[in-house]
Amino acid sequence: MNVTITVNGEVRSASVPPETTLLVLLREHFLLTGAKTGCDVGDCGACTVIVDGKAVNACLMLAGQADGRTVTTIEGLATREGLHPLQKVFEETGALQCGFCGPGVIMSSKALLDEIPNPTTAEIRNALAGNLCRCTGYQKMIEGVHEAAEMLQSTTT
Ligand code: FES
Repeated sequence: MNVTITVNGEVRSASVPPETTLLVLLREHFLLTGAKTGCDVGDCGACTVIVDGKAVNACLMLAGQADGRTVTTIEGLATREGLHPLQKVFEETGALQCGFCGPGVIMSSKALLDEIPNPTTAEIRNALAGNLCRCTGYQKMIEGVHEAAEMLQSTTT
């Protein structure tokens, strides 16, 4: 089947078997390997991308279900001006350790901040509940999301 999505602002198409997941479409057909394959069954959140404004596990969505939709991956966050505040803060504060969960954590955080610009700690915890980190670095991630929220708000006010 043919699938066309707008990914990181670019319209891209591929011909794929119907059982292809969005994660495979992104990683193997579009070579966007930022979203990671962890559990591949919806448990770990390493594959999180944003589809039409909502964080989704790309391993659980069929490519066909994403047809005609808008997808943002970690590769789409940085601009010519530099890294997204979430990326900057996570890098500078060491909020990520091994880094494998990072793209998923950052995309879940991005979806949260797009919806709730100044979230509470409970809202951040809730948004990251589906993102597993084996290095157990959640506290720094939560602080990082608060810090990125402040940076984003200071650039918009
Ligand atoms: Fe999709 Fe783990 S790889 S949730």
